[in-house]
Amino acid sequence: MIFDVNRVRAAYPALSDGYAYLDGAGGTQVPATVIEAISDSYRSGIGNVGGTFPASDRSSSIVAECRLALADLTGGSPDGVILGPNMTTLTYRLAEALSRGWEPADEIVVSRLDHDANIRPWVQAAARRGATVRWAEVDLPTTELPPAQYGELLSERTRLVAVTAASNVVGTRPDLAAIAAAAHAAGALVYVDGVHATPHVPVDVKALGADFYATSAYKWSGPHIGTVVAEPALLETLHPDKLAPAPAGVPGRFERGTAAFADLAGVVAAVEHLAALATGPDPATGPDPATGSRRQRVLASMAAVEEYETRLFARLLDGLGAMKHVTLYGRAARRAPTAFFTVAGQSPRQVAKHLAARQVNVWSGDNYAWELAGALGLRDSGGAVRAGLVHYNDQAEVDRLLAAVDELA
Ligand SMILES: Cc1ncc(COP(=O)(O)O)c(C=O)c1O
Repeated sequence: MIFDVNRVRAAYPALSDGYAYLDGAGGTQVPATVIEAISDSYRSGIGNVGGTFPASDRSSSIVAECRLALADLTGGSPDGVILGPNMTTLTYRLAEALSRGWEPADEIVVSRLDHDANIRPWVQAAARRGATVRWAEVDLPTTELPPAQYGELLSERTRLVAVTAASNVVGTRPDLAAIAAAAHAAGALVYVDGVHATPHVPVDVKALGADFYATSAYKWSGPHIGTVVAEPALLETLHPDKLAPAPAGVPGRFERGTAAFADLAGVVAAVEHLAALATGPDPATGPDPATGSRRQRVLASMAAVEEYETRLFARLLDGLGAMKHVTLYGRAARRAPTAFFTVAGQSPRQVAKHLAARQVNVWSGDNYAWELAGALGLRDSGGAVRAGLVHYNDQAEVDRLLAAVDELA
């Protein structure tokens, strides 16, 4: 597969403003096709679902198309795609529904590597039910989440294991298949935070062993929409609070109020965008993008994205690693292309401001990886600087960041 970053960049109107958008881990820009899909829906007229007129039918079609697209992105079932505003809201909703069956002697396992959105909803739900929370710890020198510790954390009382597919700060991609296998052997369900992993790697929820897989479209070139993908049969066992006249079936009963229909059309366009990032038939790496199914095209395209980003990330890490005034956090063997670092004598926010003045967008702080920032001793000193690569970033942007950080020596 051929990944041509110049072709990819041309698809994004916002990238022409001269800034290096290395803030993708906090939210990506969107290609013109996504903007057009959203405005086309409004232009053609959309109504609420369940009506007797074409505009209502258009919204119903958008919802159905969106479930199909997200199933193609993740390898899940369209009928198990729950749509909502963002991952945090949906995770609270799932925590509420799942924890109804928990009893005081029950246990859950969360990880210190995770974004708080895959920790606090579970910790708070466990507190309400009197259940015990066990913590999987990060090996700080390597920033790995060793799967072996789950053997001791799990018991026949474990109801749920919540774990991330990739850290949103240090990038660590834990061995989810091993963790999920241990969790399933103990009879626990596995809730995977796929928000940071989805933009960077091909995703297969079944291979990961994820009973629930959460992701947010705004992290992969789509609008501000979140989803949780699960097997419909599993969702059938859960009964969230819902309005009396609202849908009783699955996945509808997990979706509250009126959906953002136009944005859902944007999600479909974003999945199409991901499926088309890499081009050119190459029998060695994947199907002909012109003829493969969308699922096949997504997998082949995201494999090319992973390869491209890994190469670019190596340049970023080598450059930062060579600077004596920079401390890098994150050493995992498998990681998303996200750098987390501090600069001697400067607060992370000062570094971010310095970079912004040179038209380089990065984040600073704990980025809601609150537990990990605490474990790394960074929580009270302003966290660290986060520079995250996505598929539209290029070498010139990385070099601009490196030159700007070098000025702070
Ligand atoms: C890894 C990870 N999980 C969860 C979230 C929360 O996602 P949302 O903003 O969709 O609630 C984020 C957002 O930054 C994230 O990076």
